[in-house]
Amino acid sequence: MRIAVVGSGYVGLVAGACFADLGHDVILVDNDQRKLTALRNGEVPIHEKFLPELLERHRGTHLQFSDDLAETVRRSSAIFVAVGTPPTESGEADLSYVESVAREISGGIDDYKVVVEKSTVPVYTSDWVRKIILRNGADPESFDVASNPEFLREGTAVTDFLFPDRIVIGCDSERAADILRSVYAPLTDGSYYRKVEAIPRPDRALIPPALIVTSTKSAELIKHASNAFLAMKISFINAVASVCESVGANVNQVVHGIGTDTRIGPRFLNPGIGYGGSCFPKDVMAFRSVAREHGYDFTLLDAVVRINEEQRQRFLRKIHHALWTVRGKRLAVLGLAFKGGTDDIRDSPAIAILQALLREGSQITAYDPAAMNRSREVLGDTVTYANSSYEAAHNADALLILTEWEEFANLDLNRLRQELRYPIVIDGRNLYDPELMGAQGFTYYSVGRSASHPNGVPAGVLRNGKKV
Ligand code: UGA
Repeated sequence: MRIAVVGSGYVGLVAGACFADLGHDVILVDNDQRKLTALRNGEVPIHEKFLPELLERHRGTHLQFSDDLAETVRRSSAIFVAVGTPPTESGEADLSYVESVAREISGGIDDYKVVVEKSTVPVYTSDWVRKIILRNGADPESFDVASNPEFLREGTAVTDFLFPDRIVIGCDSERAADILRSVYAPLTDGSYYRKVEAIPRPDRALIPPALIVTSTKSAELIKHASNAFLAMKISFINAVASVCESVGANVNQVVHGIGTDTRIGPRFLNPGIGYGGSCFPKDVMAFRSVAREHGYDFTLLDAVVRINEEQRQRFLRKIHHALWTVRGKRLAVLGLAFKGGTDDIRDSPAIAILQALLREGSQITAYDPAAMNRSREVLGDTVTYANSSYEAAHNADALLILTEWEEFANLDLNRLRQELRYPIVIDGRNLYDPELMGAQGFTYYSVGRSASHPNGVPAGVLRNGKKV
């Protein structure tokens, strides 16, 4: 099938490369010439596992790049719109990019096309896209607007796309549904997974994935409701973690105890410094806003957002509790990305915490395996950048873990202790076992678990000339 993907951001680029890997002929359209040139020259703009391989495999053959949207529409049966929907000041989604793309698409509709929303958009967007295309002269019989939300996570975007739990297609006509069924047939009939060159199957993958066909509006809601629910799970467990801290319980044990109930499930119950990124914060607000616009005051989502914000403040208070004052202190920060496995720092809780510490006069040496270049654009030289966790830790008054990178969970603790000026670790991602950290000579603070201290020595006492 000939497919157009409009927008070469995170979702568009991954979807385009993956559709090509399913055997379709894909044209990726963008109006940013620099992006197109970079992609044509083999550059990979985002840090995403398997994406370089897929781009290399299909660039110039199954995957072409263009800035001519109307012409690309003429050549395609399905047009996936994956342009940005950034938040406005009041938290609604700004749909102006979607609108201008819809306008341009209408100029290329010569025979039947299905225009598919892939970006996260509020319910009713499909109605508006249809209206705009009609207003600009397209024949009402010559197109349908469908919704095919994307559930990929940064860091595992390619495998999430190719091995999804489910594929949701929201259509109001059988003709559109048939086209979308064909687009995903290599996944739903399992033929993709039998190919020798298929991307390796992740452990938890359900093969073949479920295909869920709904109305367009239901599909739009499924996307917002999924993200809001996941964000709610995180805020819920962060709230439970705060109670654990007050009563001396261990949040890991609580998560295990509740997560083994299959109705609840263990995933997305990792407490920490709150969720960030380009999706949850924006989508929770947008969902709240669209609900209000249609007469429902979704106050539960206010609590989700509030708990998330408080979580960062609680962590800052924890740092103060551990260090007393922070002005002039040398702090090692591990992690700048909004989560592990990505170089994305958009709405990163790590950056927000780091900036708060800078405002208080701390000196920060930071390390992140992938996000340092992007962080430099925001933080400039207000922090020192290290080449490894140990270099960051060298002579620091304490070590803060702010992103759940796997490599931060596997540090050589002896070496770390030797590098630090004081063996104090404040872990915002619960990567270590408190008892182990105490046994290894650290004063260790985490989220929803009691602090631990070097075995037998109460916190704050001097040992070998060092405060523990
Ligand atoms: C999220 C959803 O997980 C995807 O399904 C969705 O497609 C995507 O948004 C989107 O709408 O495009 P993503 O933002 O890439 O994906 O990242 P997540 O893995 O969901 O993590 C989001 C934030 O929550 C991160 O800051 C992460 O550290 C935090 N988190 C996640 C926790 O604090 N605890 C958890 O248990 C899980």
